[in-house]
Amino acid sequence: MAQQRIAVVTGGMGGLGESISTKMADAGYKVVVTYSPSNTKHKSWLDEMKSQGYDFGAYPVDVADYDDCAAMAAQIAKASGPIDILVNNAGITRDMTFKKMGKADWDAVMRTNLDSCFNMTKQVMDGMVERAWGRVINVSSVNGQKGAFGQTNYSAAKAGIHGFTKALALEVAKKNVTINTISPGYIGTKMVTAIPKEILDSKILPQIPVGRLGKPDEVAGLIIYLCSEEAAFVTGANISINGGQHMY
Ligand code: CAA
Repeated sequence: MAQQRIAVVTGGMGGLGESISTKMADAGYKVVVTYSPSNTKHKSWLDEMKSQGYDFGAYPVDVADYDDCAAMAAQIAKASGPIDILVNNAGITRDMTFKKMGKADWDAVMRTNLDSCFNMTKQVMDGMVERAWGRVINVSSVNGQKGAFGQTNYSAAKAGIHGFTKALALEVAKKNVTINTISPGYIGTKMVTAIPKEILDSKILPQIPVGRLGKPDEVAGLIIYLCSEEAAFVTGANISINGGQHMY
């Protein structure tokens, strides 16, 4: 890498986020993580990372809030320089059947999982186009591709992400800026281990031909590839990483 590229990972302290952040740092990127303002463990996480040799920039931001994203991006640009890579990874679930779902449960998931892609990408896209280099990786889900029981909100938001990816990829393709979606299946993170064990064992694991949950590092490895120079011809793609659970 001629010049150290700057990567922002939203939700960079979370289940997938920690693997993405550390692997990207290992790959030579300068990594800045964002975390939810309600995350009370950010300091201990940063201390732990420091003890492992990782010196991440870190900013609290509500990715559902446009102005918060704008302020944070300006701070990062000032402190670290222009953002070359954005991983829209932050996401939440509010799983419940449609019958039980209220408007607030719908809105929270749409805003945090889908609006966030607009809110964050908007802050970095003009700069990427001007510099004629950029990578945006939007983290969707197998459940945005195939639907999931108890996830009308999450599946809708995650499916929406890929529409956003495809449209924006068209607009900036000539500028050497790629926009891609990745769709992980069930990965061994807190979000998945929070699923009731009997549902995980009886309904979900039997659907995964590889016979296990995915590993966060496996997802991070795919993101590293998409950030690379070799991936310049991959844009507007939705890459599944789900142990064979859903093929299409
Ligand atoms: N497929 C088919 N049927 C299901 C099902 C599934 N995945 N999950 C639950 N059911 C059935 C149950 O077997 C039960 O059927 P019976 O009444 O005939 O016994 C019925 O639905 C009600 O189930 P619960 O008792 O669990 O109902 P609940 O209201 O307490 O909970 C739920 C419903 C919140 C949806 C709960 O079942 C659940 O958490 N399911 C898992 C949802 C899920 O897969 N979330 C993914 C999280 S991980 C993630 O999102 C990361 C990613 O990107 C992949």
